[in-house]
Amino acid sequence: KNIVILISGRGSNMEAVVRAARDQQWPARIAAVISNRADAAGLAFAASHGIATAVVPNKDYATRAEFDAALRTVIDGYAPDLVVLAGFMRILTPEFVDHYAGRMLNIHPSLLPAFPGLATHAQALAAGVPEHGATVHFVTAELDHGPMVAQAAVPVLPDDTVDTLSARVLKQEHELYPRAIRWFVEDRLTIEAGKVVVDDSP
Ligand code: GRF
Repeated sequence: KNIVILISGRGSNMEAVVRAARDQQWPARIAAVISNRADAAGLAFAASHGIATAVVPNKDYATRAEFDAALRTVIDGYAPDLVVLAGFMRILTPEFVDHYAGRMLNIHPSLLPAFPGLATHAQALAAGVPEHGATVHFVTAELDHGPMVAQAAVPVLPDDTVDTLSARVLKQEHELYPRAIRWFVEDRLTIEAGKVVVDDSP
């Protein structure tokens, strides 16, 4: 299976996926890593691992629809079976999302449905919740609301700051996202009545 990963910055989740795919010999290849920002740090890691990279700068396009159309053309040039959003910081049009229905995953740094949107760690601290975490979900038109594939929880500790809490969550993300993507490439995920069913048999 061909996987295309979209990033906007650091790319540590992309890195975790690239390493897992290689170390665990997934029946899949990372066909390309694509960024909307030329300065995304993750592009260098991908290139140094022999993965094709591309930049589609959103600032070159007057409208979201034009950017999404250009991005879709570049993505589809790699014939992806799965599109992985890994810190890709753009809201996508419904047309784009529909085109990849059932074959686009995102990781969101909260225990959805709690704290959709931005600044999730600050939101969690402000709310005083005892637990926080991350969610992998299929992407649908409504932001951070698609069918959930997997979650990982961490405790919120009394002295936590955004930095300490986000680091604790990120460590879990690097386990969670590769596990969920591996299920996809091994055909273990089905969506039934809007809910994801995982076939976790050996
Ligand atoms: C992660 O926390 C992810 O959950 C969120 O954006 C962050 C991206 O980090 N969507 P990285 O670029 O993968 O290091």
